[in-house]
Amino acid sequence: MLTPILNDVHGGADLAELQRYGLRPDEVLDFSANLNPFGPSPAVRETILRVGVDRYPDRDCTLLRNELARRNRAPVDGVLVGNGSTELFWLLAIAHVRAGDGVAILGPAFGGCERAACMMKAEATVCAASSANGFRPPWQQFARLVDAQRPRLACVTNPNSPTGQTIAFSDVIALAARCPNVLFALDEAYIDCLSADTSGDGAEMPNLVRLRSLTKAHGLAGLRLGYAIGSPDAIATLRDVQPPWSVNALAQAAGLAALLDQVHLRQTVGRWRDAAVQLIGDLRTIGFAPVASSAPFFLVPVADAARTRHALLGHGLLVRDCTSFGLPQVIRISSRSTEDNARLVEAMRTMRAEILRCPD
Ligand SMILES: Cc1ncc(COP(=O)(O)O)c(C=O)c1O
Repeated sequence: MLTPILNDVHGGADLAELQRYGLRPDEVLDFSANLNPFGPSPAVRETILRVGVDRYPDRDCTLLRNELARRNRAPVDGVLVGNGSTELFWLLAIAHVRAGDGVAILGPAFGGCERAACMMKAEATVCAASSANGFRPPWQQFARLVDAQRPRLACVTNPNSPTGQTIAFSDVIALAARCPNVLFALDEAYIDCLSADTSGDGAEMPNLVRLRSLTKAHGLAGLRLGYAIGSPDAIATLRDVQPPWSVNALAQAAGLAALLDQVHLRQTVGRWRDAAVQLIGDLRTIGFAPVASSAPFFLVPVADAARTRHALLGHGLLVRDCTSFGLPQVIRISSRSTEDNARLVEAMRTMRAEILRCPD
């Protein structure tokens, strides 16, 4: 039997949970998953209607991969498309991590890396930001850990989720250059949610693989789509362990249509970010202390995150309880439209005492 695998908690709510609350999915405003609230480009829906579903998809995702390579100034064989970036984490672990290997994670972080490491029976060490220093990424501490322990895999998320804070890409490159036998997985799932593209070149480094997602800012969560960029050798190793046809035809066509509509991406991410700034201000005004973030999602300290999530879900408002990130007194809120945000602010204003009161 497999050892129980940690940290399989995510944003969103399962149907069974909503049924326990007597809610239908369309009655819930989801602030818990960091997804573009304005959805994908209209071209995505038009495109997927034309996709033939009665034949196998292109195993190599040729058209999408060519477009991703062109946009990222990477060679085509330096790009691999996956069934969400989650699949790519599993491929990294299957290809590179063995029982007893060390895996260092700059935390708090999406559970995918730790979970994949546990699956391979590796020893994961999380070096996590804390409220004591404003949730700033503990980069120096992490770099010392990697320098000293030389783990097999080092996972860094930039911008970080749940904190929304960033680190300098040049710091990652410098550490990867110093530790050539450590493979660095740079999780950039939310890079398109920033106000400017902070990514630099570095795909040619043999020990750096960047993982990106089209499920977040591009709004394709239900279709599952992500990609890895790395040296052709690093990418070939991942491709060798990828199941055939893991990226379906609808996702491939949708990804291409989404990438080609950069106007939609820029406009909707801009509206999303503006709404987040207003939401942070409104929450401050009613007595909460949201933590500054570079992304359109952010942390809010509360007395008890699980209780707060439960209380708000009773009103059809879903926030992320950060207990699984090691932060039981913090929730994460991903902004939605200004109208939806106003409903959340009103509910939090009414329940403020309950949300901030420490349990007896
Ligand atoms: C930081 C981070 N990385 C990766 C993922 C996985 O994204 P996906 O598999 O949808 O591409 C998530 C999902 O929540 C995430 O928060």
